[in-house]
Amino acid sequence: MIALFRHCLLACAATALTIHVAYGEPEPTALVDQQHCMFCHTRDAPFLAPSFQQIAEHYRNAPNAQTMLEHKLRLGGKAHWGDTPMPPAVERGGPLSAEEAHTLVQWVLSQ
Ligand code: HEC
Repeated sequence: MIALFRHCLLACAATALTIHVAYGEPEPTALVDQQHCMFCHTRDAPFLAPSFQQIAEHYRNAPNAQTMLEHKLRLGGKAHWGDTPMPPAVERGGPLSAEEAHTLVQWVLSQ
């Protein structure tokens, strides 16, 4: 019985590890839903907005990207990808704290 339990523990840990490696940072689902990120973005296909993979790729070697994107996510800013800027947080579903913006950007850049 104990052996069975240990086996499960190992298997579950291994599964969690695989998911983590395959998809980068875990999705902050509550924030993503509240802010409707997936209304305009998808993970891997450009839709109304660049995909999160394109964004991650674009900023991979940009040292200030994290800070710049956190600011943009909270307060909006000029468009970098086309003519349509992303609406600021208050227009997407409510104000975003610095900590929440940090979590979201870290997740996007890990895609
Ligand atoms: C109403 C549609 C919409 C929603 C909702 C939305 N986005 Fe965007 N997002 C856009 C558009 C359009 C762009 C491209 C803007 C540009 O050209 O800089 C963009 C760009 C971005 C960028 C890149 C910005 C840059 O300067 O390169 C990031 C990062 C991003 N979005 C993350 C998010 C996250 C995270 C959420 C949810 C919290 C979200 N977006 C919700 C439309 C949206």
